[in-house]
Amino acid sequence: MKHLLNLTNLTKEEFYLLLNRGLQHKKNRLLNSTALKNKSIALLFEKSSTRTRISFSIAIQELGGHYLVLHSNELQLGRGETIEDTTMVLSKYLHAVMIRTDSHTKIEKMANLNVIPIINGLSDLYHPCQSLADYMTLLELGYDLDDLKITFIGEPNNVFNSLVSGSLFTNSTVKIAAPDGFYLNSNMESILKENHKSVSFYRDPKEAVKDSNVIYTDVWVSMGQEKEEEKRKKIFKPYSVTNELLRYAPKDVIVMHCLPAHRGEEISEEVFDAYSEIIFKQAENRLHVQKAILEWVFGLI
Ligand code: CP
Ligand code: NVA
Repeated sequence: MKHLLNLTNLTKEEFYLLLNRGLQHKKNRLLNSTALKNKSIALLFEKSSTRTRISFSIAIQELGGHYLVLHSNELQLGRGETIEDTTMVLSKYLHAVMIRTDSHTKIEKMANLNVIPIINGLSDLYHPCQSLADYMTLLELGYDLDDLKITFIGEPNNVFNSLVSGSLFTNSTVKIAAPDGFYLNSNMESILKENHKSVSFYRDPKEAVKDSNVIYTDVWVSMGQEKEEEKRKKIFKPYSVTNELLRYAPKDVIVMHCLPAHRGEEISEEVFDAYSEIIFKQAENRLHVQKAILEWVFGLI
């Protein structure tokens, strides 16, 4: 049984298979349109979502399957039924579950039961579906994934962790600029160590963006961190991707963002507008790569 909890669940071959399959789906929206016939997949949300929810729904529909959007507060899960019992029950009705949750441990518990394929649609630690769409976008734009310098500006969060996890299949390098007090998550440190790779950590974003091909940023306040909003907005203020910061990067650098964006915070209005075509391409590619993920989960590719 296959689960996608993070990109480290994939081999290098599978990583590229998913990216290339996503590109094929983009060329032909009707490709494999009966692949999920008679398959029902739950999309279980404990947090908000626009892109993940809609791209998975449409991907499942276009592959001929059925989807069911569930919100944990409407299930007995929200009243204390365990995640294990919930997963067992879901496995009796459905063929796969995509879950978005604030607890990666919860996703691991679901997958450890090994009774139904589990796809991580974002946890506190990882966002693998996003990173697959991002690497697919870079391939589509003609970049050689083995020859990239990616710089992340902001918190070493779920989006960053999956971006780094994907880079392990390539010869690209990843740098990050984050404020004092922010470090790599210990899970990521272990993953990097196992793979004999490293991430260069900077406190000065201007230093970090030098030589970069790609600058990537994400919100300063992730879902679940709302209580720290004011504090975070102060701490991250110097970590905004602005035209001023881009002066320190090569002229042909591109800027990526997983969305939702907060213009005037992690990215300025002008920079967002200048790179919006790429940013919306990332969002668009979620649909195409979700199809590849679903095919992979069901052993169809
Ligand atoms: N990028 C992303 O996952 O967007 P949503 O939160 O809207 O799903
Ligand atoms: N880091 C953000 C990503 C949203 C897609 C969050 O977790 O809210």
